[in-house]
Amino acid sequence: MDKNEKNIEERTSFNKKTSKEQVLDILIENMDIHISGEAISQQLGISRASVWKHINSLKKEGFEIESKSGIGYILLGKTDSSLTSYEIKRGLETEFIGQNIEYFKSIDSTNTFAKNIAPKSDEGMVIISDEQSSGKGRVGREWISKENEGIYFSIILKPDIDIMNASFLTQVAGAAMVSSLEKMGVESTIKWPNDIIVNEKKISGILTEMSAEIDQISYIVVGIGVNLYNQSFEEEIESKATSLKKEGYDIDKKEFLQKFFLEFEDLYKEFLSGDKESTISILRKKSAVLDKEVYIIDRTGKTKVYARDIDENGNLLVEKENGSIETIFTGEISIRGLESYI
Ligand code: BTN
Repeated sequence: MDKNEKNIEERTSFNKKTSKEQVLDILIENMDIHISGEAISQQLGISRASVWKHINSLKKEGFEIESKSGIGYILLGKTDSSLTSYEIKRGLETEFIGQNIEYFKSIDSTNTFAKNIAPKSDEGMVIISDEQSSGKGRVGREWISKENEGIYFSIILKPDIDIMNASFLTQVAGAAMVSSLEKMGVESTIKWPNDIIVNEKKISGILTEMSAEIDQISYIVVGIGVNLYNQSFEEEIESKATSLKKEGYDIDKKEFLQKFFLEFEDLYKEFLSGDKESTISILRKKSAVLDKEVYIIDRTGKTKVYARDIDENGNLLVEKENGSIETIFTGEISIRGLESYI
């Protein structure tokens, strides 16, 4: 058994629910009747004092729980619309991705927070925030992250892989994104290496950051932002960005996250076992750049090439104007000015 297999096996032990989560589950299952503290304590095998403590803590988190003396507790609803980790975890079918969630109403950047806690966190831990004050995009750009507009989250991973393979995780995330969107009825494509496109405009971006020793990865943080409900965008990006709402899709945040985590976990587990096949096949099928003339943008400027294929490692194979084939490992592609906005 290699280290990745062992990690997967050990993970099953930490996706158990906390007793507070179990108290909430019981309240949700009994939303039509009061349930006594005694009944909850017996069902969970914890003291009545613990039940009371958990109820109080849930109330502080915004759960409206009515307590009637001599009768018990009833869950009436939630005082705000923010999505908590409980709601995401209920019905989440993954083994480890998203089984531990830290949910914020506001934070500077989920990637920054994830990197801080990664050394002491389990693989699969997810940080989510309703808004970010310093959301980070690729190449030092800002990722505008307003409340009620998008989803902003980061996944902590600790794969036992060669550092050279780490950037493939961005591709795993991109493939998981288009296939979970497809399951929700949204047709999207991937602008290699990591922009998700709907109707020729960007709806999602991925920022993968890594901490490693010379030859060993300590952790990888895959940060993802998705424009869900934005009605408008800043002038500089208006022509390039869109949201699912603007394109006519009404997507539920919780459902999206549950579907994405499951797709991501499936492809990630396959990758850990040394198989990149499914991801590559999605990348090829859903590519926004293959069989098109594109510009490669790097420090030296723009070069016009023809995007031929994605190789078995997720790199882009392009044909130059002189007919030679070049492998592009990372960078920026533009097909703008040729036939679309992206
Ligand atoms: C891009 O430039 O396309 C990548 C954008 C990545 C944004 C996400 S939002 C959640 C996570 N936290 C950040 O600060 N950035 C990533």
